[in-house]
Amino acid sequence: MHVAPAQPAPPPAPRTRAARPDWERVRADFPILDQQVHGQPLIYFDNAATSQKPRAVIEALRRFYERDNANVHRGIHELSNRATAAYEAARARVAQFIRARSAEEIIFTRGTTESINLVAHAWGHANLKPGDVILLTELEHHSNLVPWQLLAQRTGARLAFVPVTGDEAELDLSKLDALLSPPVKLFAMVHISNSMGTVNPVADLCARARQRGVVTLVDAAQSAGHMPLDVQAIGCDFLAFSGHKICGPTGIGVLYGRAEILENLPPWQGGGEMILSVQYHRTEFKKPPHRFEAGTPDISGPIGLHAAMDYLDALGREHIWQHDQELAHYAYERLAALGNVRLFGPKVGRAGLVSFLLNDVHAHDVVTLADRAGIALRGGHHCTQPLMRRLGIESTARASFYFYNTRAEVDRFIEVIREIQKFFAR
Ligand code: ALA
Repeated sequence: MHVAPAQPAPPPAPRTRAARPDWERVRADFPILDQQVHGQPLIYFDNAATSQKPRAVIEALRRFYERDNANVHRGIHELSNRATAAYEAARARVAQFIRARSAEEIIFTRGTTESINLVAHAWGHANLKPGDVILLTELEHHSNLVPWQLLAQRTGARLAFVPVTGDEAELDLSKLDALLSPPVKLFAMVHISNSMGTVNPVADLCARARQRGVVTLVDAAQSAGHMPLDVQAIGCDFLAFSGHKICGPTGIGVLYGRAEILENLPPWQGGGEMILSVQYHRTEFKKPPHRFEAGTPDISGPIGLHAAMDYLDALGREHIWQHDQELAHYAYERLAALGNVRLFGPKVGRAGLVSFLLNDVHAHDVVTLADRAGIALRGGHHCTQPLMRRLGIESTARASFYFYNTRAEVDRFIEVIREIQKFFAR
């Protein structure tokens, strides 16, 4: 019988870096950015879809495969011990990154989507009955909507939504207390809207839910790599994010669950690794988090993610947040000054992205012409189709920023948008 290794306690949180990084020099850590696309220097403004990877992450993956690759938790040979130690050290580092109380509160998944599906299966099936309500917001990405629709269909629960105000896409919280009244059992909310750039006051929303005994889940896919996160200060029961949006590899994600809740949750997938003892007709499961990690996990993913978290914290997430917001504010003001641009999301206090439409020009045409100028944007519904319908549109064009983007790139982007406007005005 294999006993799960003891979880290392999270190391103390890193001290805040005093000086703002030299962003131009930081940019040189990203080999992919140094290239031309269609004969123009690449301007990568699709960071809400996925971020680029610094050398530190690429090297960590290479080192793991060159020196330490083996399966975890099942070997007693040196390489397996090294791989297991690195895998569990990454878990402890995630706990530190989001200020969880213990590494046992950190479950590795494939990404935000799988983390939310895990909660819907394990928590949802054990706790919901016909007539119960799952409260969401109208801003949700499909990943924080479709799993709840499926759960509602299976359990007889129903969905309710906190409305948005209009193009500014802020939550109308005037009726929140009424919306949170029984039989609401779960309130799942996005922290930063991927399509609008709205930043939701998640600590306040979770506090209001907690007062009414409602369980909370925060979708932190767009916030985890862009600002300091503290799950204890937010006061959520669950929080989900993805590695690939925070400079880590694709295919690795995190679900934070408060220890008291995880302790009582049944597994959601069965198989090797998550068991203490198996007989032909029954199984005894490991404690969390291993109870929720069936089969051989993604091992290199957490190792790359560990390097990414170290990299981001060496820069300082408070500095990243300031840089993202400054670029987004600058881009928003310059787009507004062009005229004939419909802008979405809050005018002030937005996260690091701008979402817009040029009068009568389809978002896909904007993105296609920008691509010819070497600028990577995203156009479409951004996996928020109900929100688009709510705003009476099909799609937007989106420029989403990260710390390696510069004001000079925004200036070039504005020049290209002006050319696109002229092209369609002919
Ligand atoms: N959710 C990602 C985006 O907003 C894919 O682009």
